[in-house]
Amino acid sequence: MKILVTGGSGQLAHAIQRFWQGDEVLLPPESVLDLSKPEAIQSVVKETRPDVVVNAGAFTQVDRCETEVELATCINGEAVGWLAEACSEQMALLVQISTDYVFDGKGTRPYLETDPVNPMSIYGKSKLRGEQEARKAREYLILRTAWLYDASGNNFYNTMLKLASQGNPLKVVDDQRGTPTTCRDLARQIQKAVVAGYRGVVHATCSGETTWHGFAAEIFRLHGLNVDLKPCTTADFPRPAPRPAYSVLSVEHRRSLGADVMNDWRQALAEVVKEP
Ligand SMILES: NC(=O)c1ccc[n+]([C@@H]2O[C@H](COP(=O)([O-])OP(=O)(O)OC[C@H]3O[C@@H](n4cnc5c(N)ncnc54)[C@H](OP(=O)(O)O)[C@@H]3O)[C@@H](O)[C@H]2O)c1
Repeated sequence: MKILVTGGSGQLAHAIQRFWQGDEVLLPPESVLDLSKPEAIQSVVKETRPDVVVNAGAFTQVDRCETEVELATCINGEAVGWLAEACSEQMALLVQISTDYVFDGKGTRPYLETDPVNPMSIYGKSKLRGEQEARKAREYLILRTAWLYDASGNNFYNTMLKLASQGNPLKVVDDQRGTPTTCRDLARQIQKAVVAGYRGVVHATCSGETTWHGFAAEIFRLHGLNVDLKPCTTADFPRPAPRPAYSVLSVEHRRSLGADVMNDWRQALAEVVKEP
């Protein structure tokens, strides 16, 4: 199989390149596959003739999306429609990577794939538009994930390690719940999902749940770091874009489909620490 991945410089794309086994994986740079350019999407898909397109590219700076609405809507929303069209012409499967931000975070139990969506931020709205556009493809799979990180990339894990190395006391939000998910677990799951023939919407996070504070504490514990870490609330650090307070995604549907390869979040974190 030939796999074309968008967002080639991102952390998920990097993990797909590293952990996808046995197939040809193409990661064109953004200068070649720019999601804001329909003609670039059309020509790259036509020239490479992939069996699967994984759309891992996105405008992921959640706060910036609040002011750059048009750009966010284009890259996270409209571009998926252009990809869907190009995939349909090439008979390729479109795998769209979506997010917990399509929910409002007011839930109290893990979100099911069938629960109503209600994004609160521009980022969440633009990603929901992406889901709607993906559904126009002849064959599509929408994988919703959350709290992504790995040993490389611009993410919470690396931010915590950097802050810890500076030796200052840290306050981390303890009233948002979710599931830290490694890019490598998601990359392996995407491959398994494609082979197993998943279609429609499927949640794809690690299992279990914690808060950002709980995640930070486990990072420091596994690294053997003694950090002065204290909990705080979302209200202590106001940000331009609202964050869902509860964004745990149910893994039950995925488990019922078989070929589930995602770990409990603590186990997944331990792997990243042991084998960066
Ligand atoms: N990170 C999370 O916690 C999280 C949670 C839920 C869902 N997701 C979704 O998971 C997917 C992968 O995210 P990630 O964590 O790997 O994010 P990431 O590291 O920010 O990767 C996204 C990549 O897309 C690129 N990109 C931006 N605009 C583009 C354009 N016009 N054309 C082509 N590429 C463009 C970015 O390039 P620049 O760096 O140059 O902008 C970046 O390399 C995304 O769909 C994201 O929405 C992420």
